[in-house]
Amino acid sequence: MAENRARVLIIGGGSVGIMAAYALYAGGNADVTVVMRSNFAQVEKTGISIDSIDHGHDIKGWRPDTILDSVPDVVREKLPLFDFVVVTTKNIPDVSPTAEEIVTPAIVNEKTVIVLLQNGLNIEKPMIRRFPSNPILSSVSYISATQLSHGKILHTDPDYQRIGPFSSSLVSPEVAEDAARRYLTVYNPHNALNVVFDDNVTRTRWSKLVYNASYNSVAAILRMDTARMRMSQHIIDDLIRPIMLEVIAAANACGITDLPKDLPDRAIRADSTDTGFRPSMCQDADNGNLMEIEYIVGEPLREGQSRGVQMPALKTIYYLLKGLQLHAKEARGMWEPKFCSNNPYK
Ligand SMILES: *[C@@H]1O[C@H](CO)[C@@H](O)[C@H](O)[C@H]1NC(C)=O
Ligand SMILES: *[C@@H]1O[C@H](CO)[C@@H](O)[C@H](O)[C@H]1NC(C)=O
Repeated sequence: MAENRARVLIIGGGSVGIMAAYALYAGGNADVTVVMRSNFAQVEKTGISIDSIDHGHDIKGWRPDTILDSVPDVVREKLPLFDFVVVTTKNIPDVSPTAEEIVTPAIVNEKTVIVLLQNGLNIEKPMIRRFPSNPILSSVSYISATQLSHGKILHTDPDYQRIGPFSSSLVSPEVAEDAARRYLTVYNPHNALNVVFDDNVTRTRWSKLVYNASYNSVAAILRMDTARMRMSQHIIDDLIRPIMLEVIAAANACGITDLPKDLPDRAIRADSTDTGFRPSMCQDADNGNLMEIEYIVGEPLREGQSRGVQMPALKTIYYLLKGLQLHAKEARGMWEPKFCSNNPYK
């Protein structure tokens, strides 16, 4: 069977990318290449250790079929086609290289299926502009996994993903759905994982944003875990819940009118309160890293506002986050503290 294995390239060696690589390896139907950055040298030397609720607690020295430290150029390097390119990097369109720039060398037009295993709304738009004839899939992941140190993963909540096609005018719905079904048979051939077909990826993404646009962004600004916010009460009443209701109003305006009534209450109580869970955007703020502001906060805000939905809380949060992002940009030389010629505030 080995010769029939799908060739899968995973871009991003964070915890989500590594757990996807391991699941694909465990399924036995994929030849897996992973592009890593900061952890490449360590993983090349010692392999990957995983303590996983799905795959076993004592995985040591594991390596995918191939590891690389940059995205391969399939044409120049005369490589066989990658059937699937799975993008798991953080998605920050305000900073170059963007996701579509990163994947470009690995994509063969019309053939390669691009899987966006990333958060947020409208992430497919720039990808479709660049690759209008490639099937592009949405994977929304609810996994909980952390990279404790380079190549050392603690995976504590099962791999749960909803995977389906984004709609794209030059790819027929049948071809796109077929690509999603094929990816699922490669990823989850024995149905051992709760990784399932999603027939409405836009609805799934809005639904997840109810949590991410509110808790992540407020956590990043306050630098506070979600348990403390609930203990304070007022942070939920005055910030989290109002933002959730604004996001739901924006979703409604976009035609997603059947989100469950108890969604805010369930999202508010989603995390355990024994451990102070800091959502990823908060961890990014803690570590001085760039944050995924645009697809998590900016896009739902723009979608709602363009349809006349009032979103005062989310709007203020968005501008505060954009301001906070300047710290990380300045530290990386991506923003210089100086007046541009057209700046009236000099
Ligand atoms: C997704 O669900 C919404 C309702 O929430 C519906 O209006 C829309 O047509 C659905 N889209 C697809 C592709 O089924
Ligand atoms: C989104 O929310 C989940 C919880 O559902 C959290 O684990 C994750 O850190 C958030 N992702 C981002 C990009 O903020």
